[in-house]
Order: sequence, then C-alpha cells, then structure tokens
Amino acid sequence: MALIDKILKLKRDKRAVILAHNYQRPEIQDVADYVGDSIELSRKAMNEKEAEMIVFSAVDFMAESAAILNPEKKVLLPTLGARCPMAQMLTVDEIKRCKLQYPLAPVVLYVNTLASAKAYADVCCTSANAVEVIESLDADTVLFGPDRNLAEYAERKAGKKVIPIPEWGFCPTHLLFQPEDVQILKMQHPEAVVMVHPECSSEMRNVADFVGSTSQMCRYAKESTAETFIVGTEEGLLHRLIRDNPEKKFILAYEDAVCPNMKLNTLEKLYVALKEEKHLVTVPEPIANKARKALEKMFEITN
Ligand code: 13P
Ligand code: SF4
Repeated sequence: MALIDKILKLKRDKRAVILAHNYQRPEIQDVADYVGDSIELSRKAMNEKEAEMIVFSAVDFMAESAAILNPEKKVLLPTLGARCPMAQMLTVDEIKRCKLQYPLAPVVLYVNTLASAKAYADVCCTSANAVEVIESLDADTVLFGPDRNLAEYAERKAGKKVIPIPEWGFCPTHLLFQPEDVQILKMQHPEAVVMVHPECSSEMRNVADFVGSTSQMCRYAKESTAETFIVGTEEGLLHRLIRDNPEKKFILAYEDAVCPNMKLNTLEKLYVALKEEKHLVTVPEPIANKARKALEKMFEITN
C-alpha cells in the first residue's frame, strides 16, 4: 500500500484529524484535512469535536496550543525536534522583569511562544490579528513578544506604544528577505504585486503592497486582479498559492527562504506518528489553565 493510503487508512481507523501549517512540505499539505495559518489551525483544533486525536504537522508552539485548547484529546507532533527558534527567545524571567518595569502595560504574546510564557500573557495574538488585539485593549502601552518586527508593525498600525520583549526577538527565516532582492525582481516583473509576512523587517514591509499572515496572503492573492506576485515568506506557502491560483505566477522574494524546523516533518514521520501515536504533546495543567485563558481572550476579541 502506498504511504499516503496507509496514512489515510490509519487516520480513519484512529479517528484522527491531520492539521498542517501552510509551510509544510507539499505532500503533507495534500494529505492533511486542513491547511492554514496559526489562527485558523488553533480555531480548527478548538472546534474539532469528532476526532479523538489531532496530528499537528507544524512546530512545537502550534501543537502546544492545540493541546492547551483540547486537554481531553491526544495531540501528536510528528517530529519532536520541530521547534520554532523564535518561540525560545522569550523566557519567563524576561516577562517577569518587563512586567516589573511596566506594571500597567498588558502583556500581549504572539502565539509563537512556549506554553510557559503564555501562562504570563494577558492575551495572545497571531500575525493575522495582532493589530486588532492591541487596538482592543484599554491601554496606550503594551508589552509584546517575542517578534520585534511584528511589534513594530503593530505599533505603527494600532497607533499605540508597543514595547518588544525581548528587545531583539526575530524569525531567522524571515530575516533572510532583503528589499534589494525585491527591487531586482521588480525590475524583471514590473507589474508584480509584493506581499510579505509581518515577521519581515520594516525595510521589507515598506516595499510591500500587502502585509499579512500566511492565509491572509492566500486570500489576497485570490482576490487580487494581479497576475504576478513576489512573496516574502517561507517557501512552503507557494504550494498552496499555486494550487489555488494555477493561472497566476508566484515568485519567492528570496529563493532559499526555508524554515528548517517546519521541514523536519516528512510524510514518513507523519505515518509513524499516527501508527505509534507519538510524539504526544502535553502541557502541565497549571500552565495550560493560565495559557488557555490568554488564548481564549484572543478568540473573544477576534471572534
Ligand atoms: P502564520 O500564522 O502567518 O501562518 O505564521 C506563523 C509563522 O510561524 C510565521 O513564521
Ligand atoms: Fe518560527 Fe520563523 Fe519557522 Fe515561523 S518561519 S516557525 S517564526 S522559525
């Protein structure tokens, strides 16, 4: 039996659902029940009533959020080492230190954080709703971590003081994009529209026609009348963009923009995870209970 058929059979037999992030390998996206950005996948995980098991093909913090929102379900991460380096950049000690410095500022944490950090957040957000979440808070100054670029973007859009914690947090993959590369591509494709992820630098955002989460970029490309797009995010998104818009052309703004952690998941590992029910993602209850409140607050704000 082909690997894909084995996965589909196991999935049926075990009443499992496969959620995959937009950066997953094409063959994983194709076998998944649902492919999306962080907010869509968290919502899917939260509303998943039928399945007994969730196989979350992505990185650690996304599977952790699913486990927090579904304490009664088995949540599996196909590769134990698939960890977002940016999520590791914000420690609990750093949050405590900043809270002492700014006692009145609410703590808004990007979902790209560890559960232990989320436990200290007033509210979570994703790249799709960071601006909306910050605008909704009754405060002119907020602490925001760990992505400095998203903090900067949200500060400009929401018109509030957004203090990045730590001061230097970043995504190594989105840092690879340079406006000079976009300028060269624009010379070759003057009609192209530029869309980038808010984790890119402000210089990249300044040359973009659209800034949004991975799924927001998919919607933008679908609705736009443009035929050519220069894309500033991880290369995995191109599979979905091309599949959904076969008549349009998508060019990666930097051709080696790969998140090595996202790419650790393979079809083979997905199969083994389903078969052997590993790697089980668990979050200690006291941490999960606090982190869940911050995630639920985000859902209340953004519906
Ligand atoms: P999205 O929520 O936009 O999919 O982003 C997740 C991420 O990790 C970006 O690097
Ligand atoms: Fe983390 Fe960046 Fe990879 Fe997203 S692309 S999972 S932020 S390292």
